[in-house]
Amino acid sequence: MILSPSLLSADCGRLAETLAELQDAGVEWVHWDVMDGHFVPNMTFGQHVIKGLRNASDLFFDVHLMIEEPERYLTDFQAAGAQMLVIHAEATRHLQRTLAEIRRLGMKAGVALNPATPLCVLDYVLEDADMVLLMSVNPGFGGQKFLSSTYAKIRALRSKLADAGRSSCLVQVDGGVDLANAPRLVEAGADVLVSGSAFFSQPPYAQRLQAFQSAAAQ
Ligand code: DX5
Ligand code: ZN
Repeated sequence: MILSPSLLSADCGRLAETLAELQDAGVEWVHWDVMDGHFVPNMTFGQHVIKGLRNASDLFFDVHLMIEEPERYLTDFQAAGAQMLVIHAEATRHLQRTLAEIRRLGMKAGVALNPATPLCVLDYVLEDADMVLLMSVNPGFGGQKFLSSTYAKIRALRSKLADAGRSSCLVQVDGGVDLANAPRLVEAGADVLVSGSAFFSQPPYAQRLQAFQSAAAQ
């Protein structure tokens, strides 16, 4: 299991220090929640902030774009140092083209689905995705309640990936993830867990990472 802590729950006044602390704690990925106030009601940081913090760590930058028409900004996020760029299927008209373009720019391509979006939207783009992000809350805010419909969705996605010969595609779960649901999420087939409030609320980070890893191994 890979843990990708969401900086949405970190202290935005000291992101550079937090990135360094995460790296020292043994974390490998970090999750950036980019929100535009249109696709979701909230706004956060964008490509300029991410770019400014790229040199603060060697962490793998997992960038979750909750923005309309993400195809307008792919080169900006590439320049900002995104390594995994995740777009929402609901936010782009030409999903296959946008995923292919992300890969052409040298990034891993991820596709995110809101809780109510069916898996069939992935049917003709599985070849183009390195990761599928299943939202386990409706996006926009940290600290929301986990939706238990996610377990069945993960299992159905795993089976779809296997049928398509795409089992190497990562499955990420984002929203309301904590130590209590992590074991079942991993058992259902999740590879990458995003955690905001449950991770950042209880430092030190090395112990928190260890707690998630132990939970995932249960
Ligand atoms: C929600 C974001 C999540 C969020 C997770 O819109 O995509 O990444 O930060 O936070 P928690 O773990 O607190 O639900
Ligand atoms: Zn996210």
